[in-house]
Amino acid sequence: MCGIVGYVGDRDATEVLIKGLKRLEYRGYDSAGIALIDGKLIVQKGKGKVINLEKGSKKNNLSGKLGIGHTRWATHGEPNDVNSHPHLSETGKIAVVHNGIIENYNTLKKQLIERGRTFQSQTDTEIIAQLIEEIYTKSKGVTFEQAIRLALKQIVGTYGLAILNIETPDKIYIARKGSPLLLGVGENEMFIASDASPIVEYTNKVVYLDDGEMAIVTRSNYEVKTIDDSPLTKEVHELAISLDAIEKAGYPHFMLKEIFEQPRSIADCMRGRIDVENSSILLGGIEDVIDDLVNAKRIVIAACGTSWHSALVGEYLFEQLAKTPVEVEYASEFRYRDPLIGKGDVLLVISQSGETADTLAALREAQEKGALVLGICNVVGSTISRETDAGVFTHAGPEIGVASTKAFTAQVVVLIMMALELGQRKGLISSDEMKRYIAELSRIPAKVEHILEHSDDTIKKMASLFTYAPNFLYLGRSYSFPVALEGALKLKEISYIHAEGYPAAEMKHGPIALIDEMMPVVVIAATDHTNDKMVSNIEEVKARKGRLIAIINDENTEVKDLADFCVSIPNTIDCFSPLLTVIPLQLLSYYIAVNRGCNVDQPRNLAKSVTVE
Ligand code: G6P
Repeated sequence: MCGIVGYVGDRDATEVLIKGLKRLEYRGYDSAGIALIDGKLIVQKGKGKVINLEKGSKKNNLSGKLGIGHTRWATHGEPNDVNSHPHLSETGKIAVVHNGIIENYNTLKKQLIERGRTFQSQTDTEIIAQLIEEIYTKSKGVTFEQAIRLALKQIVGTYGLAILNIETPDKIYIARKGSPLLLGVGENEMFIASDASPIVEYTNKVVYLDDGEMAIVTRSNYEVKTIDDSPLTKEVHELAISLDAIEKAGYPHFMLKEIFEQPRSIADCMRGRIDVENSSILLGGIEDVIDDLVNAKRIVIAACGTSWHSALVGEYLFEQLAKTPVEVEYASEFRYRDPLIGKGDVLLVISQSGETADTLAALREAQEKGALVLGICNVVGSTISRETDAGVFTHAGPEIGVASTKAFTAQVVVLIMMALELGQRKGLISSDEMKRYIAELSRIPAKVEHILEHSDDTIKKMASLFTYAPNFLYLGRSYSFPVALEGALKLKEISYIHAEGYPAAEMKHGPIALIDEMMPVVVIAATDHTNDKMVSNIEEVKARKGRLIAIINDENTEVKDLADFCVSIPNTIDCFSPLLTVIPLQLLSYYIAVNRGCNVDQPRNLAKSVTVE
């Protein structure tokens, strides 16, 4: 949610910043801007995409060797030119880009206005520039760095900040509380960014800023300290991601690329963790806490969005395979209701980005109450992955499309591996059963590949028939219920069609009233033990003339005969089925959105990484 970049070095800063903003655009895309120091402080910003900013910068021939940039997802103030970042102080000498929310901005703004300051924008960010300037100019002997620290002391809320001051033209000041920031360390050049994607093509050396830290960055040096001015020595990490992973590689959209990457991302997630020969699983990241997990009274899983759907799959898995009671919570609800969690409980948080504000807050809440906190994250080095007691990375590679696809399947793979390992350690899974599970798990990438190869055309055709449907209903039972929710979410997110996912039996308690010949109903009927029940639900839909799209497995001929449209997927063990059934649904939403001319990778109003609550 909002992306920040910064650069100081010998390159053309405009080019580095714009390129970086394009890579960060998935975090927010309603407006963008840059500030450069080139003798004077120059700002170029405006509503719309980074491409508009690029055109404007070229037209105005912007140049400079030091600058900061921002791509915005509006929180305070509508997306327009004035509210775009960077924001300037009243004299125009200080520029600020900000990710996060200043909760006491109204109070601070009123006070600043009373003391004579005038404001241009409706944003919370502008008060940061104004407050720093006020402190800097009015307090004798206060350096600019001290002024930043004093201002941050007055601010309540979250921030990732990059700040320029024309009086210190060789420095970028950055600070973090609640919104990610990292520093890329090059040879006589430094990079700043909200995540590693703008940096990877220049350097693989990064320093992650933690909450309550700031840094003063010049082309040849960086000084990290706490906001209270205690110097820190930070570890320099090596980035493992490559440039290819963050480019479209010939696909028209990142989302399509990421859907098609799933055979590989699922295999990557299992690599080195499942041993087919010995029928065993080894999850190094949770090895040290595995006994606590085995002895846990219950597991609470907290997450948001798509990750919450994989959490639901996790509930079924842990309860079936490991007989551990599970509760699944929306992280946003969990954090605010004084949850009953403590010693002996495990909180498992799931997050692709590792930065989702509510999930992070849930983690901290549970940690404070004495629970063991584990994480499943995709982004290495992310805040959640660093704050959990232990965890498992999904290793799905960077996910850029705002609608999550390969992260979901990788999360489910991790949950399967965790549940199997737990079940085995608890003596609930025999070695023969384990052999069968592991062998089948190792076949999943090939089965996903098969679906992608054989169903793509059918789904494209189906999508063209349903492009203008105003509503969709998705139904599933058991392991297919979370998939129904995920299929509906995908469609909503990128095509703006209203869609709802339901447990198939619940249909009778309301949604059935909506079904008529105009209503497409997607049924996921690929889990063997619920198929008979699904057939009855399908009959109910047909009796009301609903248009039936069915995701079935190869053997399910009964549903095939009833459905108007079918996508057949290879058979698998029921508890692995979400890894296969979700693929046609991802493709269906993708092709419908493309047909409707929607911006698939950057749907309206959404952001990839929701770092504000
Ligand atoms: C946003 C994204 C979703 C994602 C959710 C949770 O809403 O658009 O795709 O599922 O955040 O994000 P996380 O990074 O915590 O999995």
